[in-house]
Amino acid sequence: MIAEIRGIGSFVPEKIITNEELAQTVDTTDGWIREHTGIEKRRIIAPGEAASDMAIRAARMALERAQVGPEELDLIITATATPDYSNFPATACLIQHELGAEHSGAFDLAAGCTGFIYGLSVARGMILAGDYRNILVVGTEALSRITNWQDRNTCVLFGDGAGAAVVSANNNQDNRGILQTMLRSEGAGGEHLMRRAGGSRMPFTPGMDPAETFISMNGRRVYGFAVRVCTILINSLLRKANLHLRDIKHIVPHQANERIIQAAAERLSISLDKFYLNIAEYANTSSASIPIALREMEEKDLLHKGDLILTLAFGAGLTYGGLLIRW
Ligand code: ACO
Repeated sequence: MIAEIRGIGSFVPEKIITNEELAQTVDTTDGWIREHTGIEKRRIIAPGEAASDMAIRAARMALERAQVGPEELDLIITATATPDYSNFPATACLIQHELGAEHSGAFDLAAGCTGFIYGLSVARGMILAGDYRNILVVGTEALSRITNWQDRNTCVLFGDGAGAAVVSANNNQDNRGILQTMLRSEGAGGEHLMRRAGGSRMPFTPGMDPAETFISMNGRRVYGFAVRVCTILINSLLRKANLHLRDIKHIVPHQANERIIQAAAERLSISLDKFYLNIAEYANTSSASIPIALREMEEKDLLHKGDLILTLAFGAGLTYGGLLIRW
């Protein structure tokens, strides 16, 4: 038996903010953002909506494409840094109710931008253990709600969106599914990407410095970490599977910054063409970026049965992880 991705769905909000528009409210330029990140625009969640609203749309698409009914789901795992509520009920429970997934458990998972990879790995393990047949894994992020729109170091980087995958037991002999996983954490670097307030260490209080309630980031430290772990993930996953780079059809990285991917590609002497990049359109949507990219690749007919895909991510924690998938 193998755990396969049977259906992918995604959703991005309608509202677009271009670099030029941002440059009217904060001290930056379209040229700086493009040159340093590859980003051209980002989507912003509609007023009154929350992470679960985007997630439900992505989830419905994934279920439809998988031809799995909500009542057939055994579990919903939601990766998000921006749950509807801080921190309960879990956003996964809101999704479970709205979908009508009556026989499903539900929980949220916190692994920053690596959340979707963590979710798929957990789903694979539970399916291989034999107790679960269909698991919905969601990445959904309303990062615009925790972004400091006055801070040019961070506000240019992030966008909103959601993606979802139905992971199912595959008993065919085609070996299509998640072949290898790798999950890692370097907690020592946690302070480089965090939201300080809102937890038990620094609860929200009236009169609090608003900066504490937003994403804070040491960009250079995260950049160095990201380039380093991209190379570790690619080399380790290939070694574990006894495969060579030429066997891999596409590398689908977390879309954080085009320059991170360029630097990793150079270090490994891999052509940039091997990587699927759509950061120009959506900016960094954290745990949603990989399923949004996979869905877009399906729409462009870039994913074919039997293709080997390597997908990897890095983010707050600091966490990193990757998967090798036979599509
Ligand atoms: N517009 C104009 N100037 C800017 C902007 C901006 N938006 N942001 C920073 N600058 C300035 C800085 O103030 C600095 O000016 P100074 O030299 O006068 O101090 C100058 O640009 C250079 O700053 P650097 O930090 O060296 O810029 P760098 O080329 O490293 O790019 C960036 C910064 C894009 C943040 C980069 O470090 C990066 O991508 N880091 C990783 C960030 C990331 O991916 N985070 C998320 C990953 S995990 C997850 O997805 C949640």
